[in-house]
Amino acid sequence: MMKAKLTLLAAGCALALSACGNNSSSQDTSEANPAAVATVANAAETRAAVADDAAPMNAGTAAYAATTTAAAAAGAAASDKPTAVVNDCGTEIEANDAMQYNVSSIVVPSSCSDFKITLKHTGTLPVASMGHDVVITKKSDMAGVDADGAAAGLDKGYVKPDDPRVIAHTKLIGGGETTSVSFPVSKINGDGPYVFFCSFPGHSVLMHGPISVQ
Ligand code: CO
Repeated sequence: MMKAKLTLLAAGCALALSACGNNSSSQDTSEANPAAVATVANAAETRAAVADDAAPMNAGTAAYAATTTAAAAAGAAASDKPTAVVNDCGTEIEANDAMQYNVSSIVVPSSCSDFKITLKHTGTLPVASMGHDVVITKKSDMAGVDADGAAAGLDKGYVKPDDPRVIAHTKLIGGGETTSVSFPVSKINGDGPYVFFCSFPGHSVLMHGPISVQ
């Protein structure tokens, strides 16, 4: 889980240096450091493993500190935001200029045949710098869809065209815009788990959550 998250994070930043680099310094720090520190941790563990007794305490301490830092950063991505409010087989969620949705999860009533997600970007930043969308995939497909979306580029809304792993997605919008997508509930009532996330490069680190049918 941690490795997957860090790999995704690194991939997001690598594929879109501008997206990660343009964020505020505090955002930059919280996102970039865990990956770097984790690398240090791996190096430290390797040294500890191969060295006889060459400063094993230092290596162990570094690895522990790195693990703690990375865990804290990952914890910051988890949120205490509410589950989306559902009415009439649909929900309206918000995304903002701070690269966050206002909900942590979406629970779709099993009584619905179709479900509509409306995304409202409450910020003011343009789509090219703070674009948001809602992409639904299996959780196991998120990283690959995210990476291929980043490679597809802004013109494609950071979603690879005709990607069979994409169950549904809205278009990518900027501040002040609203968009929506409807899809058959049966598509997320199979062999999940399923997630929703923003495919703007780097955003899925903070902008993702489970979507389930109950
Ligand atoms: Co976004």
